[in-house]
Amino acid sequence: FYVDWDLMTAEKAGFDHFMLKEIHEQPKAYRDTMGSRIDASGERVVLNEVKLTPEQIWDIHNIHIVACGTAYHAGLVGKSVIEQLARIPVEADVASEYRYRSPIITKHTLVIVVSQSGETADTLAALREAKRCGARVIAITNVVGSSVAREADDVIVTWAGPEIAVASTKAYTSQLIAFYLLGLHLAQTLGTQDAAVIRETIEGLKKLPEQVEEILNHADDIKQYAEQIASHKDLFFIGRGLDYAVALEGSLKLKEISYIHSEAYAAGELKHGTLALIEDGIPVIALATQEQLLEKTVSNIKEVKARGAHVLGIALEGNHELGKAVDLVFEIPRTVPLLTPALSVVPLQLLAYYASLALGHDVDKPRNLAKSVTVE
Ligand code: G6P
Repeated sequence: FYVDWDLMTAEKAGFDHFMLKEIHEQPKAYRDTMGSRIDASGERVVLNEVKLTPEQIWDIHNIHIVACGTAYHAGLVGKSVIEQLARIPVEADVASEYRYRSPIITKHTLVIVVSQSGETADTLAALREAKRCGARVIAITNVVGSSVAREADDVIVTWAGPEIAVASTKAYTSQLIAFYLLGLHLAQTLGTQDAAVIRETIEGLKKLPEQVEEILNHADDIKQYAEQIASHKDLFFIGRGLDYAVALEGSLKLKEISYIHSEAYAAGELKHGTLALIEDGIPVIALATQEQLLEKTVSNIKEVKARGAHVLGIALEGNHELGKAVDLVFEIPRTVPLLTPALSVVPLQLLAYYASLALGHDVDKPRNLAKSVTVE
């Protein structure tokens, strides 16, 4: 009796790749990251690890979010979340740029560094610079005891579990959950939102894991689409507001592992230059989950359609208006507008995965990229 025992295969728990396993682990990662941070009444967030007193929170004049790669993209969503919920001005920077632009950091600045590994050299250097200038630093990280976790004043751990695939998926979405919790925590303290808004957002958060499962049940639709686009050289992602932040992450994911060139554009900005690149048959993925921006996004979709683009819309369930404007639609379940990134990114992760697979690339270990970058 002979058993071919391959540890890596065992760790993939029946999935072909770590990336696919990690995409499927997102419902659990959401649940674990929310965990006991929502109190039993479902009406309040309890973020005990953030030791800032109410007085210190009142004293925050501005927030800087600093990170690299995918974590930076989570930071872009975090910026909107905190600004909308807590009404504090937020800037988001990539860590390799932050220190060199002489950022205005005072003791009234809260700096939030985001890092899956907690070891990224540029992010760590930004953290040290922020502390040197007297700012308080919160780290959002997936690794307890990492350098970033040790040096920050407060740490919000994302309980995504180990992430092996180089292309980050469950770490990114867990970072989004951390930002939602932090945004709510700040809003509760500052009284910037009605109790009803807080309650509704918390209810929305609690439904996300199940809604991600629903999306994963339709992975085959994305697989088919990925096989169609795999032969293309260029592709565009467009969106407005939070959809733009997710478009950036979708584009990065696709480039990282399929090596198909793509660009993410704020939908309204295309006509200020690159619209000329939209040629007959070029795939455009239009994210349109923000209903207050829908009309404007639809008019941008018409601009690309008029130039022959083939458009896949990512829309909220039952959005017939968008359905009429695009060639194909992938629907995501309805949620609070602020929470849509935690759902809309999932089809884009699947798209990158299946495109890479169709092209025969090494999904988990893309060329020239490392999981953790410890040089500046
Ligand atoms: C590398 C990885 C990316 C990651 C970035 C930041 O470039 O390939 O997937 O987003 O580092 O990593 P961190 O561990 O700081 O989140």
